[in-house]
Amino acid sequence: MEIKDLRFETRQIHAGLNKHEKTGSRGVAIYPTAAYRFSSCDQAARLFELTEPGNIYTRLQNPTTTSYEERITALYGATGALALSSGMSAILIAITALASQGENIVASPLLYGGTYNQFRHTLRRLGIEVRIAKGESPEDFAELVDSRTRAIFCESMGNPTCGVADIERIAQVSRQNEIPLIVDNTFGAGGYLCNPFDWGADIVIESATKWINGHGTAMGGIIVDGGNFNWGNGKFPGIDGPSEGYHGLNFHKAFGQGAFIVKCRVDGLRDLGSCPSAFDSYLMLLGLETLSLRVRHQVEATRTLAEHLRGHKAVKKVSYVGFADHPSYELAAKYFRHGASAVFNVELQGDIESTIRFVEALELAAHMTMIGDSVTVVTHPASTTHKQLSEADLKAAGVTPTLLRISMGLEDPRDIINDFEQAFAKAGITSPSRQ
Ligand SMILES: Cc1ncc(COP(=O)(O)O)c(C=O)c1O
Repeated sequence: MEIKDLRFETRQIHAGLNKHEKTGSRGVAIYPTAAYRFSSCDQAARLFELTEPGNIYTRLQNPTTTSYEERITALYGATGALALSSGMSAILIAITALASQGENIVASPLLYGGTYNQFRHTLRRLGIEVRIAKGESPEDFAELVDSRTRAIFCESMGNPTCGVADIERIAQVSRQNEIPLIVDNTFGAGGYLCNPFDWGADIVIESATKWINGHGTAMGGIIVDGGNFNWGNGKFPGIDGPSEGYHGLNFHKAFGQGAFIVKCRVDGLRDLGSCPSAFDSYLMLLGLETLSLRVRHQVEATRTLAEHLRGHKAVKKVSYVGFADHPSYELAAKYFRHGASAVFNVELQGDIESTIRFVEALELAAHMTMIGDSVTVVTHPASTTHKQLSEADLKAAGVTPTLLRISMGLEDPRDIINDFEQAFAKAGITSPSRQ
């Protein structure tokens, strides 16, 4: 049976499973090694020239990580994937593989705070301009694209407001301009909730730290190539042109549709060095085995808590993309095929002080900057993830002083509701009777 013909639930277990294991072990082996012995000097030379595939050094590849990359590739129905040590590193390596000094990318205004910072500060210092669109409509992206634009970047669902990108229409803009569309699909949960390749995206990046790992036990990022972009259109000499680091090798000609991932690995990972450890790749593989089961529970539990809080006396506003009054309700219904989201936002009554009292009174829900964990997480973006942003940027990102982001875990949602009620009472925010 071919992996590509299996359903998502089966692929999340069987893809990449023990292909490299000779002992019969059911568990994928963890290879704690930095380097690999060469069988001869000739073989070593072929590995270094990229004319023979194989392991050289764990900064570039590791058998445990290869299994994990194969599973991700299979889940997305893609041509290849590269695992990195964090989501931020995935974004940096994907973008620097495409754009150089003097070039630009066009990005959505609805971005995770860390991504904003990378775009506004680090990429700018590297000479790559990031043009933030004034809105989320395809026209807002289109008006910023020029001959030096090398990619469009958006999040399938924006962190923290849960605004959904109109991927299909944004992909039309990128196609018209012959540049790839990169989608940060962290909220799409390994392709289970949303697969941007189904809608014309070219590259997916994801913070694997979140739903892919699913237990808050490891950091990771992935870059995935859908395999549909034409790298030979003249705009990407770093992919379709002589590579200085490899004696003039042309990645596009040598590796065809695999060229982008090869470029990210042998240039990006080689030079920036943010490889995952074999143990972390193992944790990702383990997490992936239950991805759909976890996410299904979390999506249902999210609705339960969001419905409880809607109209609650302690709550000013519930912003849940599964409710018809959320601006992205229809887009979420289109792009998120197994339910809205496992994250939603609540604006409490009161002020920043009572909000902080509430957060500190929670006993089960953890006060952390995290999403996609098996523990329910409550985050206060104004004092954490978005603290570095200017007032104007905070406003653009929809972050107010009493806004809380809630990421549902795997607990029974009735216990989380009771936890919220006791915390409302302790914080002095009106609380109706216990459940
Ligand atoms: C949407 C999104 N993209 C990227 C990142 C960065 O990922 P990491 O924390 O794994 O570096 C995050 C982190 O929260 C995120 O939410």
